Amino acid sequence: MLISLCVCMKKIIVANWKMNPVTLKEAEGLVRSYIRLKKSFKRSRVIVCPPFVFIPSLAQKIKTSFGGDVGAQNVARDDAGAHTGEVSARMLKSVGASFVIIGHSERRMMGDTDDSVHEKIHHALKAGLSVIFAVGESERGEDAHSVLRTQLCEGLRGVSAAYIKKIFFAYEPRWAISKGVHDAAGSADTPKNAIEKAIYMRRVIAHLYDARVAKKAIVLYGGSVRAKNAALFMHQEWGFDGALIGGASLDPHEFANIASIND
Ligand code: PGA
Repeated sequence: MLISLCVCMKKIIVANWKMNPVTLKEAEGLVRSYIRLKKSFKRSRVIVCPPFVFIPSLAQKIKTSFGGDVGAQNVARDDAGAHTGEVSARMLKSVGASFVIIGHSERRMMGDTDDSVHEKIHHALKAGLSVIFAVGESERGEDAHSVLRTQLCEGLRGVSAAYIKKIFFAYEPRWAISKGVHDAAGSADTPKNAIEKAIYMRRVIAHLYDARVAKKAIVLYGGSVRAKNAALFMHQEWGFDGALIGGASLDPHEFANIASIND
């Protein structure tokens, strides 16, 4: 099924800070640096995903100073109750988050399964959060289509078409993820391969829903995105609607250069 894509929409740039920085003071400093540089990325839609504990202190500033959204990096599969150490979707919403990353390969390595990802997606959507649903194969050369098909079908089980606009899909092959801000972009997937996966993901979504839903679905790329390769993933016909940035989001200049893709 052929699905034509629009390449002119505003790109979506997600900063996944992972377990960084180490103190609230440093996290506030990082946001201040983003704000100082915001004139270079005023046309991108930016979503910042700090560690849970920093969200209440940073959310307001991120929203008002550069119109960014705030997301969490994980969420519980339950709403409340005896689940020591967990944080629910409603809790996140109550402190200013409007997005949550679900299914990230680093969380899958820590125990998330297709089943828990599915439950987390339902909880998040029910609580009114939007979801950044990360999918991707673990090893280079693995049958990526089969992994993507399973992860998408399982994660989206029971999710109605009306909710797809609240889900940003992120193709993020685990083998392409960098070790941090100073890791070079060498391990990124090639734009050609990655874009082929995005087209395949839309095919799966079309199969689960219909071509119209698939055409409108937002698909991001993640895995060693840096300023020097960002445009290759996003500025092409059939290219990605945005990017999920890990290591490079901790370097404000590098991040601003990536996010300036619309300016
Ligand atoms: P990276 O991480 O940009 O450092 O490769 C991306 C991610 O894991 O979200």
